Amino acid sequence: MEAFSFAQIPIDRSRPLQPQLHSALLSRINEGLLPAGTRLPSSRRLADELGVSRNTVLIVIDQLKAEGYLESRPGSGVAVKSELPAGKVARVQWQSQEHLPPLSRVGQQWSNYEAISHEQCLPFTVGVPDLKAFPDATWLRLQRRHQERMPLRGFQEDQGYQPLRESLTHYLKTSRGVICDADQIIITQGAQQALALCALVLLDEEDTVMLEEPGYRGARDAFKSRNAHFYAVGLGDNGIDVTALPQSPPGRLLYTTPTHQYPLGGILPAADRLRLLDWAARHRLWVIEDDYDSEFHFHAKPIAALQGMAEQTPVLYMGSFSKTLYPALRLGYLVVPKPLVPTLVAAKRALGGETPLLTQAVVADFIAEGHFIRHLRRMRQLYQCKWDHLRALVEDQLKGLATPVARSAGMHLALMIDCQSDVELASEFRGAGFGSTPLSWYYASGKGRSGLVLGFANTSEAEREEGISVLRDLIPRC
Ligand SMILES: Cc1ncc(COP(=O)(O)O)c(C=O)c1O
Repeated sequence: MEAFSFAQIPIDRSRPLQPQLHSALLSRINEGLLPAGTRLPSSRRLADELGVSRNTVLIVIDQLKAEGYLESRPGSGVAVKSELPAGKVARVQWQSQEHLPPLSRVGQQWSNYEAISHEQCLPFTVGVPDLKAFPDATWLRLQRRHQERMPLRGFQEDQGYQPLRESLTHYLKTSRGVICDADQIIITQGAQQALALCALVLLDEEDTVMLEEPGYRGARDAFKSRNAHFYAVGLGDNGIDVTALPQSPPGRLLYTTPTHQYPLGGILPAADRLRLLDWAARHRLWVIEDDYDSEFHFHAKPIAALQGMAEQTPVLYMGSFSKTLYPALRLGYLVVPKPLVPTLVAAKRALGGETPLLTQAVVADFIAEGHFIRHLRRMRQLYQCKWDHLRALVEDQLKGLATPVARSAGMHLALMIDCQSDVELASEFRGAGFGSTPLSWYYASGKGRSGLVLGFANTSEAEREEGISVLRDLIPRC
């Protein structure tokens, strides 16, 4: 074997030298490039060859000796030890879970999980607002205001930045009819963290959760973290079918999207809301109300939140800034009955603790100074135009191929499509440069209606035209 040349070890002088030399020698020993018994050049020569100080070399050699990789040999300098520390001889390239120590039961379930790809926001990717319409100038001005504030660089409150909770209290009361004070709000890392916290605090392993079918996959994912079973409640014309709520509920939690059923739309009428709340109170159940996009209704004024109507039922109300501002902010909120706050905050601490303070401070002012309401108003008009355009295109070009679900509106359009595999259809559409979600993915059972859900908020006119024309070609072949 050719003698190893130490001079070839690359050293980046802009980074700390000792850790580089340590990891370079260690990986070469582990990879067998410096086999047991190999003698190292003298420290002086090594330092010359590598272009580092002799002191650096001596420190690294001492460390590798202490770790059991090198040894001093009387009269012949330093050499690679003949017996290396157990398990360090060759780095194993783990190819599958099989050879690793066992995972938890939840981990095992997730290791077979079919991931949703979020590689990029393509036109029609679901859940993405119009990213170009974001009021950057205002945002940057507010951000500059808070950027250098030292209190925002440390820790404050796991529950969330007080001024943001105050701003939200006012907004939620006036816009959504949510009755709460700032002490009841917990700021979360998106609605997804709110769901994860509820799963952790309200469910035991293998409990059953009642939820709408079709419904939000992110909620199912959160509940799966407790290995939950699902009891699917079907939909009526306007959201969850309250006549299908079980007389003997199989669990203690119902997840619902009453203000705008996800993904098919529909606003649950007031009488049905009262019936649902009464049913939940009678059976002592928790209700999670996900108010994910109530801000974007075009044809009907959104009804006030279930939370505000609930007198006897413990409703956990959640919302998100993902659609009203943008998803990468990762900001959401949970409004809960007061006695539950300390428990949920403790769970939040365990799951990551504080939400970034600078973002919270900016959003607090953004709401308090009226920018949020103005932005929502603009977006509502913009999305309505996009929606009208998309509906017209679908009616004109996909007649007989796809049935649009008119009430889905908001930021997406659900299309019912008879096809062999909507997953395949979505993948071909993706191949043409367009995002979408197969409708079947919204069914917990995996056996639902087939179709595509198209997020239109982040599309341009030309993209909508091209996308629908691509679908006109793809659907007959699917
Ligand atoms: C029904 C529903 N709930 C919640 C969310 C928001 O999740 P997050 O705030 O974690 O982005 C979404 C986003 O797509 C959603 O569709």
